[in-house]
Amino acid sequence: MAERILVFYGSYRADRMGIRLADYCVRALQARGCDAELVDAKAVDLPMLDRMYKEYADGEAPDAMETLARKIRDADGFVFVTGEYNWGVQPGLKNLTDHFLEEWFWRPAGVVSYSAGRLAGARANVAWHGTLSEMGMVVISSTVTVGPIGDTLDTDGQPVGPAGKSLERSFARFADDLTWWSEATRAQKTRRPPPY
Ligand SMILES: Cc1cc2nc3c(=O)[nH]c(=O)nc-3n(C[C@H](O)[C@H](O)[C@H](O)COP(=O)(O)O)c2cc1C
Repeated sequence: MAERILVFYGSYRADRMGIRLADYCVRALQARGCDAELVDAKAVDLPMLDRMYKEYADGEAPDAMETLARKIRDADGFVFVTGEYNWGVQPGLKNLTDHFLEEWFWRPAGVVSYSAGRLAGARANVAWHGTLSEMGMVVISSTVTVGPIGDTLDTDGQPVGPAGKSLERSFARFADDLTWWSEATRAQKTRRPPPY
């Protein structure tokens, strides 16, 4: 059965560049046979955090939150595509993730970072590792760093030039790692239910 992988991306900017990379990740995972889907925080557009999903009574969470909770629970693994704002994470994606907690547990997550410059969002990448771990995901050690994003992917999200080639190589290894863990955690859940 194909692994169900959700790819999260969270820039709300009108001229956002990271959508190229998020779309690339979805396509590359689909090409490997994964059932991959983009979750665009801007499109989902949850409100600034007030109540977490679990703080709503059954059936009372807003529709967009309910739908996303179900998708997260049903997924086998997660990819977080992150840009970097002032050495930190992008608020739109962080706001979306903070609405959930137990829904994230017991699955692997990988971080794919980018920026307009050569440091490729490395500082936001590191910050996400701790955050995703705190939220109960197993953060894989493989990561992908893309910078400058404008030299790596064209406007259709297609890899270009030497930087594009490098992305394709590093993404293949990253996806090998993520899908291995996705399969492993799914199999383990059938052998033994999560302890809590
Ligand atoms: C508010 C803001 C802060 C930024 N801070 C950083 C930064 O700390 N490091 C960096 O490499 N690029 C920084 N940039 C440049 C981003 O890497 C670049 O604009 C990138 O395209 C942002 O992602 P997005 O287009 O998907 O929103 C910043 C951009 C914005 C808008």
